Amino acid sequence: MAAPALYLLFFLSIITLSLASVNIDCGTSASGIDNNNIRWVGDTDLITTGKSSTVLNNELEKSLSTLRYFPSGKSNCYSKIPLTKGGKVLIRTVFYYGNYDRKSSFPTFDVLFDGKHLGTASILSSFDPYLLEVIFSPASSETSVCFLRTSSSNPFVSSIEIVELDSGMYNELGPGEGLFYQQRIAYGATIGLRSDLHGRFWFPSGSHALYRERRSRATLIDTSGASNQPPEIVLRKSWSGDGLVLGDPTLPSGGVPVYLAMYFSEPIDTLSSRSFNIFLDGKQVNESPIEPVFGETIQVVVKNVVANSTTELEFRSTASSFYPPLINAVELYVISTGTSVGGGGGGGFIEEKNSKLPIILGVVAAVALLLIAFVVIIIILANRHKARMKALAMPTSTVANMETGSSPQSEEQMGHNLNQPANEAGQERSTT
Ligand SMILES: *[C@@H]1O[C@H](CO)[C@@H](O)[C@H](O)[C@H]1NC(C)=O
Repeated sequence: MAAPALYLLFFLSIITLSLASVNIDCGTSASGIDNNNIRWVGDTDLITTGKSSTVLNNELEKSLSTLRYFPSGKSNCYSKIPLTKGGKVLIRTVFYYGNYDRKSSFPTFDVLFDGKHLGTASILSSFDPYLLEVIFSPASSETSVCFLRTSSSNPFVSSIEIVELDSGMYNELGPGEGLFYQQRIAYGATIGLRSDLHGRFWFPSGSHALYRERRSRATLIDTSGASNQPPEIVLRKSWSGDGLVLGDPTLPSGGVPVYLAMYFSEPIDTLSSRSFNIFLDGKQVNESPIEPVFGETIQVVVKNVVANSTTELEFRSTASSFYPPLINAVELYVISTGTSVGGGGGGGFIEEKNSKLPIILGVVAAVALLLIAFVVIIIILANRHKARMKALAMPTSTVANMETGSSPQSEEQMGHNLNQPANEAGQERSTT
């Protein structure tokens, strides 16, 4: 599994440029800087419970070599993590089992963020890191991450990354709501993008025979039109095509409320128009037609719609459009409305939702790490035949193969990579 291993390196390295962040290397007292120039602090000042251990094999990241596991107690917490009150925060927990206990038995447990947002870690492999990531507005100037025993297996954690976001980001988030990471994709990118000031990693969509990949001709892309502050690099490339359809088969079939952010930038300086509408399961979700602007960024957020494993997000040209629809980047989160753990009982509706959410999130996060989440994205271009769509839906080797040979690169290297002339540069690739 060389490709996934290489691939993982990039996202475990993204914090380098974060504005305000704390990276906790669990299970060690040592602080230090790793090969990717990320500063890690040990966790012994932050938690008094649990025990330290070392994994049997770690070729990935220094921060994953040690972990803290919790052999006793129903709940063990890293508490009093200082934050700026009133802002937003992204917390990423990474679990690298590494058969540290020599039981070769994959643990399952819950993780509670800020006493409120509950996710489940269901480890499915010894040597593939698993992650749970959530964005929320902390209620106070401190937050906590708790590991809750739900079975006989011991909860553990390898690293915890805390990144403060600008308060204007994800500003559609209601009070008490959280966003659990589901998918974050840079379309047209062939390597992972980690030059994000806000600690987010962007998975590459790779390329596909049936879409047109465009590279922006703009020397500079202004991203100020997007309050979520996507890094400019994810707007440099796009996919375009008539009948472009995206989906996420790893979503639960029963459906969950999602937060979907889409980013658009016109790649060519042209007077001809590109204009399209967006449909979620056939229902239009944008107000006025999307008309991407050259050198600028349009952000469209769709919130509180329910999406499931067969949901189709379809981009359809308007009658006046000269060019086909396009997409540069997408973020998809499952909305958490908070749990009643440790608090008063919520309504029946909320409790029901919470009981489902952890399972969903657990499965999803693992799948994402195994690089499956985005190889099964359904793409249809100039092609509405369902049969053909099924044939295309699961090319499970496509992206993995594509990633072979890519390795963690510095921002400069990535910039170079994206700017170098490639065969598709300047022209839309023919799809027929
Ligand atoms: C997903 O949701 C759509 C629209 O509500 C529905 O038609 C479809 O049957 C659902 N898919 C599954 C697998 O339940």
